[in-house]
Amino acid sequence: MRIGVLTGGGDCPGLNAVIRGVVRRGSEAHGFALLGFHYGWAGVLSGEARELTTEATKGILPRGGTILGTSRTNPYKTDDGEQRVKESLARLGVDALIPIGGEDTLGVARRLSAAGVPVIGVPKTIDNDLAGTDYTFGFQTAVQIATEAIDRLHTTAESHNRVLVCEVMGRHAGWIAVHAGIAGGADAILVPERPFDLEEVCSHLRRRHERGRTFSIVVVSEGAVPKEGGAAFSGHESTDAFGHARLGGIGLALEREIEARTGFETRTTILGHTQRGGTPTAYDRVLATRFGVKAADAIAAGESGKMVALRGTQIELVDIDEALAEPKLVDPDLYETAAVFFG
Ligand code: F6P
Repeated sequence: MRIGVLTGGGDCPGLNAVIRGVVRRGSEAHGFALLGFHYGWAGVLSGEARELTTEATKGILPRGGTILGTSRTNPYKTDDGEQRVKESLARLGVDALIPIGGEDTLGVARRLSAAGVPVIGVPKTIDNDLAGTDYTFGFQTAVQIATEAIDRLHTTAESHNRVLVCEVMGRHAGWIAVHAGIAGGADAILVPERPFDLEEVCSHLRRRHERGRTFSIVVVSEGAVPKEGGAAFSGHESTDAFGHARLGGIGLALEREIEARTGFETRTTILGHTQRGGTPTAYDRVLATRFGVKAADAIAAGESGKMVALRGTQIELVDIDEALAEPKLVDPDLYETAAVFFG
């Protein structure tokens, strides 16, 4: 069998570890020939791809990014996209696909699977907002990066008697903010799931300072919204091929408002793509490797329309439908644990 592999959507630490797992298991245990498509669905449409062998994937386990490149191309937003994908796969002799991606990439995978293309998805997103799996790889790395940043912000906030706002990624869900906020000892955490009341946040900060604390750390997800309503903060008009606005910048708006309302000098750090760059943590390398091996095994077992998933300590197969039914939002109990330390 010839199996196509692609990475779609935003990159994520651990993508290369998945590719390596698929290639090693697929070629050595199942005798597959592996083809890596370049730049996600764009490569599938154009047929731009290269052979992936054990030799060609040596040394990539600890490398960030993706050796295949990625894009947010949506075949269903191009003319005859589905037909062109099928023609391209037929031309290249590809029997099945392993797309590694988040809700958008897997959404395409689901439609292709319904149209008769054998597909096994691998869940990827630093946001950890995909249902069906307890964790996506890349998330722990992003949390580690954000926690280290918060630790650093603490010492400078303390030295200057300032409020430091740290903006992290998280479009629909505040998993990174809550995990990094708990690990870094945040004094307030604002997430998309819980529209925030800025006056309440400011009262927390005032209370803290009245009790003699001389600094505060506020962690905010890029997708957090105020209670009074409105869209998530975006300084850009354009949307991507899946209709998502480019987020980022809410931290700066908070900086201005917090300083004006409390009188405390406030600064913002937007972590942005640093959370997606660089080497994956050991946890993510292990999870990504297990996902890759399981995906190759699933193809060998003749499965399709499924996604590999972490359930408890086991790697299992779930329907892609289940993963895409709705985003996996922050567990309210976890948020309440974080809130014990607010104000
Ligand atoms: O993939 C999820 C994500 O990390 C979001 O949290 C964020 O909004 C988006 O990617 C940013 O993507 P891009 O790199 O296309 O700006």
